[in-house]
Amino acid sequence: MTSLNTLLLPSDKAGIAQAAALLADGGLVALPTETVYGLGADARAGKAVAGIYAAKGRPGFNPLIVHVPNSAAAQTYVKWNDAAERLASAFWPGPLTLVLPLCEGHGIASLVTAGLDSLAVRCPAHPVAQALLTAFNGPIAAPSANPSGKISPTTAAHVLEGLSGKIDAVLDGGSTEIGLESTIVGLTGLGQTGAPTLLRHGSITREMLEAALGAELHEATTPAAITAPGQLASHYAPDAALRLNVTATEQGEALLGFGPVENATLNLSPAGDLREAAANLFAMLRELDATEVKIAVSPIPAHGIGLAINDRLIRAAAPR
Ligand code: TXA
Ligand code: MG
Repeated sequence: MTSLNTLLLPSDKAGIAQAAALLADGGLVALPTETVYGLGADARAGKAVAGIYAAKGRPGFNPLIVHVPNSAAAQTYVKWNDAAERLASAFWPGPLTLVLPLCEGHGIASLVTAGLDSLAVRCPAHPVAQALLTAFNGPIAAPSANPSGKISPTTAAHVLEGLSGKIDAVLDGGSTEIGLESTIVGLTGLGQTGAPTLLRHGSITREMLEAALGAELHEATTPAAITAPGQLASHYAPDAALRLNVTATEQGEALLGFGPVENATLNLSPAGDLREAAANLFAMLRELDATEVKIAVSPIPAHGIGLAINDRLIRAAAPR
């Protein structure tokens, strides 16, 4: 692949206009969302979408999330149902992705769905993402803007670390607020609600989803059926070895702490705040990974957004 001069664009009016023009021209533009930075392309343009896979070095079978400005726009690509309506009303714009059956005349490139007859749609809340969606006036396919298998980016600098020279531009929107990828709910099952199934944990928790649905979520069954990289055993991987649930460090380990622990090299949240920990997780893993060989991580409580944090940590620690 030829090397590009990757632009770092400010998220002002001119920067957003330039980013939209690059997308319209079939280019690749990384954009901030409230979860992590995404690597965007026009979801209707197969060649542009192929560029995403090439830049990320991503296995061809992983489908991408399509970003839309609102639920009306989503409904031009997917078959809506009762559960989608409830969840979108409760959580859009926001860190929630819904997987729904594609509808007639959707116009989405088949490379986006990796040939599946369903589509993952998300309406992000980040004002820069919203401004870009408005300026571009079309669906933006965007996986996390990191080389495949590596830690997701929560700043424009992280994006450049992994993808500089491989993409056209990054829109700089500062640090992302949530820091973990969106919650994904599958709605492609039988019946009026599509059997809502939690496919990926995120900051919108099972309890929040079930309250909005007024029903229990189904459990995801075999990962093979879903082909989600969030469900590959090793993902979000630092180069350093990771040991989890550590209360006493061993020789040579740097401690990524949580709560009031002593001798932490970095602390996800000294106050023990899970939201703060989620926002810091990927940036701190990166920072330690740059200098350390072994990283020990304090126990993270397994409730609320702590479930999503533990999910990412378990994948980051998986043998590879
Ligand atoms: O927060 C996020 O979701 C970020 C921002 C940029 O929106 N995006 C993100 O994308 O994390 P990515 O590609 O890293 O993860 C997308 C997930 C994958 O696990 C993929 O397999 C799943 O969505 N997915 C996409 N389409 C799907 C489909 N039709 N059925 C099941 N899973 C799907
Ligand atoms: Mg990803």
